[in-house]
Amino acid sequence: MDKRNKTRSYQRQHIWNQVKKLPAYHARKSFLQALESSDVVLVLGETGCGKTTQFPQQALNAGYRSIVTTQPRRVAAISVAERVCTERGLALGSQIGYVVRFDDMTSSETKLRYVTDGVLLREAVLDPKLLKYDLIFIDEAHERSLQTDIVLGVVKRALRNRRGSLKVVIMSAFFETDKLRSFFSTFDISLLEIEGRLYPVDIFYTKTPLEDYLEAAVVACLQIHVEESFPGDILIFLTGQEEIESAARMIRERFENYQSLLDKKCREEDTKFSENKDTLYPLRVYPLFAALSPDAQRAALKPSRNQYRKAVLATNIAETSITIPGIRYVIDCGFSKQRLVSNLKNLDTLRVSPISQAQALQRAGRAGREYPGKCFRLYTKSDFEKLPSHPVPEVLVSDLVSVTLQLMAMGVDNPLEFELLDKPRTESFQHALEVLLSIGALESSIKLSMIGKQMAFFPLTPMLSRSLLESLTLGCSSSMLALCSILSTESVLQVSFQSRDTAIHVWNKFISSFGDHFTLLQVFQSYLSIPECDRIKWCKEHHLNYRSLATADSIYQQLSQLFYYFQQKYPSSSLITRFEEESEQDRLGRCLVSGFFRQTVRIGKDHHFYTLFEPLQVDIHPSSVLHRRFSSNEEGYLIYHELIWTSKPYIRTIMKVKEEWLLQHGGNCFRLES
Ligand code: CDP
Ligand code: MG
Repeated sequence: MDKRNKTRSYQRQHIWNQVKKLPAYHARKSFLQALESSDVVLVLGETGCGKTTQFPQQALNAGYRSIVTTQPRRVAAISVAERVCTERGLALGSQIGYVVRFDDMTSSETKLRYVTDGVLLREAVLDPKLLKYDLIFIDEAHERSLQTDIVLGVVKRALRNRRGSLKVVIMSAFFETDKLRSFFSTFDISLLEIEGRLYPVDIFYTKTPLEDYLEAAVVACLQIHVEESFPGDILIFLTGQEEIESAARMIRERFENYQSLLDKKCREEDTKFSENKDTLYPLRVYPLFAALSPDAQRAALKPSRNQYRKAVLATNIAETSITIPGIRYVIDCGFSKQRLVSNLKNLDTLRVSPISQAQALQRAGRAGREYPGKCFRLYTKSDFEKLPSHPVPEVLVSDLVSVTLQLMAMGVDNPLEFELLDKPRTESFQHALEVLLSIGALESSIKLSMIGKQMAFFPLTPMLSRSLLESLTLGCSSSMLALCSILSTESVLQVSFQSRDTAIHVWNKFISSFGDHFTLLQVFQSYLSIPECDRIKWCKEHHLNYRSLATADSIYQQLSQLFYYFQQKYPSSSLITRFEEESEQDRLGRCLVSGFFRQTVRIGKDHHFYTLFEPLQVDIHPSSVLHRRFSSNEEGYLIYHELIWTSKPYIRTIMKVKEEWLLQHGGNCFRLES
């Protein structure tokens, strides 16, 4: 056996030994029996017990031909598919693969696919009974993400229409089981509880509430590294990319300073040199969040094998859907980014809010998977006691425009009657219908128009789809496709606070006086004009995020292909060209308004910004190229791509729009002179 084969066989053996220890592996008999005897199986088991990796494989071994497993997050879908392929020694995309938006790693051979909930919903638009599958796993049901809840409704409908030829497994770490039982009460249902195996975790609280959890998390991380026993990696829960990146920077900087201080001290007190050198292990910091590239995500999951201490800074992605080996210390900031519309009428926002007790327990549990662990909560015990017991189902607090369009495209005539675990307020659906009607997606309150059907064809938000469709009649679809792609990626223009001024100087040649949309488009088009081999260097020189631009490029290629199919399917849609005499930029502006006019903001005489439809005063997000670029007497209108709420409501990715665009492309919603 050559050396490489030997290593590979050793790795397989090592993995196999791990698999054999998993509680889910030992539960295979009872799992297959439950699957045999019922239509729906509920599986409850601690995170890390092997649900996601083992049960779908067992079903594959038992002869199921076409299996799909949903995940709320794309990172999890990708990493689990990779893991299962490694376990079986298969190439990714052969018998087992994954599909996430704009990234399909499957082939005609694929029998087991890991997908995001969103992907399954899109498949259901074309195939409402999900006939392609004989077994559907719905994973992480406890998270109650909007799309998981809708998927539960969709599979219930499919089960009813396909009696006998479809089985469904619902898996979660914790759940109000009675709720699921009664939701599926018309079917044969069984419950399988997997024994967990967790080591004890000591919980520590702060004595008083903290002003700044980010600073506290950084200090706690360094303190653990210096004072707590080695080995044992650290997992820090924060709320989002920006926070994670700045904490990572702070930890690295302070650790370097500390190390050089220590080195200096050691040189001064020569005798202690070797002693200190032995005790201070290297500390490596890894971010982990959804928008990270698969390679960077893999790096965060790689075991540290006692050679250094790893600190992973993660969003709630690491709560249940991803297991990081080697974690012994958890730092929990007590917050996560959550959807919120309730007190804001119909403005969909992501807001940093306190987590639930169930989530806090999950976070702590991550420290006790391999050894007894410690969890440092950056809040007081009495604050913990005040947290809600379970997360609020997203379906109750989300904007339902997108899912309403999808449900109607699946043939659900009245979304208000669609069966869901928790019923959203009637007004939420009514609002969604109103929005769809105003952007031309509905013929009547229960029927999609041709435009509505066409909108559901694209894996984009209804607003972006609408803008893209408009570009056909304005003769600017190629640039609109590029714009849709760059708007579907994040942080193209993200730089650290310190280098922002230099970066803005370099970006000057891209910056459009209209705002972020055209600036991003300009950046993306320039990027595409650079030969592939020079792109990384070019991005570095221009302070641009190469990873984001490369992602945008891949989205652009796929979207263009879809667009090509679309034109084959609806050949008559591109015959007219309006406003030919105008510049392409103006025509693109019109397209964006036709999708996003409900997200119009008025620049007030008092120099404040007000959303037009649900009156709210907002600020321009500091990341916008128009931040602080408004003259004091400026009036007019903006549209925004996103509303986010940190300390106050901010609009992010914004564009100045002309009044006539709003009048001509804003449905019947505008009479601006009043
Ligand atoms: O779904 P559940 O949380 O029950 O567990 P799982 O995701 O199936 O993971 C089972 C085990 O596989 C974990 O305990 C990890 O040790 C390992 N695993 C891994 O090493 N790499 C992954 N990407 C996923 C799982
Ligand atoms: Mg899992």
